[in-house]
Order: sequence, then structure tokens, then C-alpha cells
Amino acid sequence: MTYADLIALLTKRRSVRYFGTKALEKETLEKILAAGRLSPSIENIQPWHFHVIRNPQLKAQLMETSCYGNFVVGSGVFIVVSCDRATGSKTQNTIWNPCEMEYSCTAAILSMMLAASTMDIGSCWVSLHHGPAHEILKLKENQMIVAGLMLGHMKLGEEEASREHQRGPLEGMMTMYE
Ligand SMILES: Cc1cc2nc3c(=O)[nH]c(=O)nc-3n(C[C@H](O)[C@H](O)[C@H](O)COP(=O)(O)O)c2cc1C
Repeated sequence: MTYADLIALLTKRRSVRYFGTKALEKETLEKILAAGRLSPSIENIQPWHFHVIRNPQLKAQLMETSCYGNFVVGSGVFIVVSCDRATGSKTQNTIWNPCEMEYSCTAAILSMMLAASTMDIGSCWVSLHHGPAHEILKLKENQMIVAGLMLGHMKLGEEEASREHQRGPLEGMMTMYE
């Protein structure tokens, strides 16, 4: 894989918020999850858990807990990513910043979004209100809701980015210390 391939993939990926009725194939879903599994994590503790939700009622219920927007229409698969803080005990080393367990989970989300793009599957990060989503999934206290990830075949005619996809200039987002 070249740098150009990577840039092409990063450019191709953008948030898709409209999904069609074609179901996401099991093999495709498994490939996306497998990409999430390969992500880097603090002390390699792999604190993520992927709750894969196809059940329409449960999906609708969880979408009620989304902060911005609702993606219940269409047959996308909804993945709720939680972080199991108990996995911190897997390492002998101290995790100085426990937030890094959640950061690890976000790395997994990006891996899954990029994997989805390679297969022309649309994806969108879905911010969730922790409390209600936690309750719906009946999670243990040390399992933190990180985010939702909507995945599915794009709705016909909605293949373009549904919102601004531009980025600011690099100069404005970097400082060189020489
Ligand atoms: C932490 C985070 C939270 C986000 N939450 C939502 C969300 O709740 N609903 C939504 O429609 N998009 C959400 N997004 C997607 C952003 O709106 C989107 O990435 C941004 O507008 C840039 O567009 P692009 O993904 O098409 O490049 C989120 C993205 C991130 C990284």
C-alpha cells in the first residue's frame, strides 16, 4: 500500500447518514469488525467491546439516545462501542490517564470506518448519551459507552457527503518546533 492509496482512502471516507434497505452482509460486517480488532490500544489491553445491533426495536431505542441526528431509517447495522475499564487490570503497568482506554476505542472506530470505505460501505459516528444507552444495553458500571457507529449500504442518490467535508489548511493546525 502506498501513501497515495492511504490518502485516497482517507479522502473517500466521509460521514454517510442515509442508508438503503439492502442489508449489510454478514461477511462484510465481520471484515469491518476484524479491522477494529487490529487497532492500537493503551498497553495493548484492547478495552473495546462491539455491541452489534441489527434488531430494529433495539436500534430505534438506542437511536433515541443519540445526541445529534437519528439514523434509524434504512437497514444499517448499528455498532455501539463500549470501553471496559476493568481491562486496565490486564497490564502490570499503571495507566496514568484512564481516558486513554476510551481513546483506544476511538482508534478502533476509525479503523472500522476506513475498512467500511474500502468496501463502499457508508459509516457515521453517532454520539450517544452515556446514561440511557448504558441502561438500554444493561452494561456493568465499569463499561463506558464511547460512541455509536452506523454502517450500511448507502441510500441510492445519497452517495455524496451529506455535510461539509472540507478541511482547514494544514498550516493552521500545526506548529513546528525546531
Ligand atoms: C467524536 C465525533 C462525534 C460525532 N458525532 C456525530 C453525531 O452524533 N452525528 C452525526 O451525524 N455525525 C457525527 N460525527 C461526524 C462528524 O459530523 C463528521 O465527521 C464531520 O462533520 C466531518 O465530516 P466527514 O466525516 O464527512 O469528513 C461525529 C464525529 C466525531 C469524530
